[in-house]
Formats: sequence, structure tokens, C-alpha cells
Amino acid sequence: MSIVLTGIKPTGDLHIGNYLGAIEPALKSAVDQNSYFFIADLHALNKEKDPQKIHQYTLSIAAAWLASGLDPQKIVFYRQSDIPQVSELTTLLSAVTQKSLMNKAHAYKAARDENLQKKRDPDAGINMGLYTYPVLMAADILLLQTNLVPVGQDQVQHVEITQDIAQNFNRTYSQPVFTIPQYFIQPDLATVPGIDGRKMSKSYNNTIPLFTTPDIWEKVVKKIVTDSDISNPKNSSLFLIYKAVAPESQSQNLLSDLENKRIGWKEAKDRLLEAIITRFGDMSRDYFNWLKSPQKIEAIFAQGKEKVIPLAQKTLASAQKACGLS
Ligand code: ADP
Ligand code: TRP
Repeated sequence: MSIVLTGIKPTGDLHIGNYLGAIEPALKSAVDQNSYFFIADLHALNKEKDPQKIHQYTLSIAAAWLASGLDPQKIVFYRQSDIPQVSELTTLLSAVTQKSLMNKAHAYKAARDENLQKKRDPDAGINMGLYTYPVLMAADILLLQTNLVPVGQDQVQHVEITQDIAQNFNRTYSQPVFTIPQYFIQPDLATVPGIDGRKMSKSYNNTIPLFTTPDIWEKVVKKIVTDSDISNPKNSSLFLIYKAVAPESQSQNLLSDLENKRIGWKEAKDRLLEAIITRFGDMSRDYFNWLKSPQKIEAIFAQGKEKVIPLAQKTLASAQKACGLS
């Protein structure tokens, strides 16, 4: 059975676009695989310097995935920083990684380009963690001899860099220490529009929160921008959001009711609110319950750590042996 591995960045609040475009598909693709999901808290240190927030985000993103249906009996769920072998392997991989490979990585290039554009020192505000991010990510992946990494388009380059690093290591020491991983992109994932019609994104402040209460959802749904001309509901953000949230038969009904002017935007918004509550109401309650029991989340991390450490130790030992360290 293939080993599938995904890292989850502990960031702030999630929106329904994140759930429909990332969380749900990742959980679906993990079914019946040998799957490992982890919270990438070491990666988060590059950006977030408030220790409380690192701690809080780690728990809240874990709560989010557990509430979304991640079953820790089926998917090994762990916290990156609980596995010291990740950092040890990062050091070994750094020694076979060309600096020029890091110069090409997008996260670094984007930060550098922004500095150049703003006429600042090209390396202003860029820490070494951001610069060598792909080596840490390669260590995450290679440590568990991963075959498949389900990713969004933005992470493809990181997996390609991981392939390069693994090949360099295996070639340098003439031993097949690491499995060469492949990436996997979910086909046909629709982009969920936000309440202003652009892509739903935390950067645009146009999101519908994934975990909240019905009164907040109601306020947000009311703000969805609708055209006074109702003649083309098929392309309206209201309908497209409804389509992403509600079952297919219900979205057909909504569309025909709008097209035939049996209902107006107000009624359509009421139906959307209902669909959101049906789909995400229980999940939200579970999320808040998980947050109230951080010790339960810690227990799941402890269980994950116990499963991952022996595998991690095995790969690390063979990498150390290959380079002459033991
Ligand atoms: P944001 O755009 O809010 O910053 P991220 O870049 O953190 O979101 O995205 C995290 C994951 O959620 C990615 O895999 C991305 O593809 C998915 N995602 C984000 N926004 C949407 C959306 N509007 N529709 C579908 N998937 C989305
Ligand atoms: N870089 C990924 C992101 O920004 C998170 C991540 C870290 C990851 N390590 C990983 C993803 C290993 C897949 C495999 O979303």
C-alpha cells in the first residue's frame, strides 16, 4: 500500500473554500491508504513569532481536521515538532542540496521580488527558515519513505525539489536510501467564490467562516453581493456558493426557481443559510468541543508520535549510515 503524507500549516481561521477545496478532498483521498497527516508547526515558526499563537493555531487546526472527519484510528495524525528526526534529517539533506535550488523556490522568490519592487534590500525580512523551507519539507516527506503527496498547485514545486534532493542523496552515497515521492493533484476542484464574487480567500476579506454560529453565518450570507438584474443567476456568486455547499438536486431546484422568477435573492439567501447550517453546523459544534478539550488533542498527537518515531528512526539511521555517521 502506498504511503501518503500531507503537512498542514497551522494558520488562522478557516473558511468554507478551504474545507471544500482542501480538507474534504484530502480526507477522501486518504481513505484506504497508509496515510500520515501532520501539523507543520516548525514551518510556522518562520512567520509567527508569538509562542502563544503557535500553540493556539496548532490546537485549532488539529481541532478543525478532527471535526472535519479525520479519524486518528485510520490516519496517523501527528505534530511535526514531536519528531526530532525531522530536524536531524534536515541537516543531512542540507549537505547535498545546492543553494541554487533554494534560490528558485517560489516562497523565497516571491518575498525577494516584493523587496525589489519596493526598492528594499532584496533579502530584507527574509529569514533562513523561509529560504531553506523546501529542505525541511523534503525531510518531512522523505523521512517516512512517502510515495504520494496530495497537494494544491502551489506546492508542486516543493515536491519536485524533494525529488531532486532525494535523488542527489541517493546518488551521492550510491544507495537507494530514499523513496522518490510523487505529487498528486486532485482533478476538477471548483474554486468557491467569496461574498464579493472574487475567489474566496482570507487575503480578500470575503470569506464565509467554516466554524462559527448560525447568527454569524446569517450576517455573512446577507452581505453576499447580488446583481439587481436577476436574469443570469447561474453565474452569481450566491448560486455558485450554494452549488458548492448543497446537494446537486437542491442546487438544480434553486437555479430553476431563480431562473423562473419563483423566488428572489432574499429567499435564495435563506436557502443558502439553511444549506450552510445543514452542512457545517454539527461540524462547528464538534470543533468548539475539541477546542474545549486540548488534552484530547494532545493524546492524539502522543499516539501519532508513537507510531511515527520508529519509522522515522529507521530512515534516519539508514541515512546516517549511508553518509558515514554511524
Ligand atoms: P486563502 O486563499 O484563504 O489564503 P490558502 O491559500 O491558505 O487560502 O489555501 C489553503 C487551501 O485551501 C489550498 O489548498 C487552497 O487550494 C484551498 N482553497 C483556498 N481558497 C479556496 C477557494 N476559494 N476555493 C477552493 N479551494 C480553496
Ligand atoms: N508547505 C505546505 C503548505 O504550505 C505544508 C507542508 C509542510 C507539507 N510539509 C509538507 C505538505 C509535506 C505536504 C508534505 O501548505
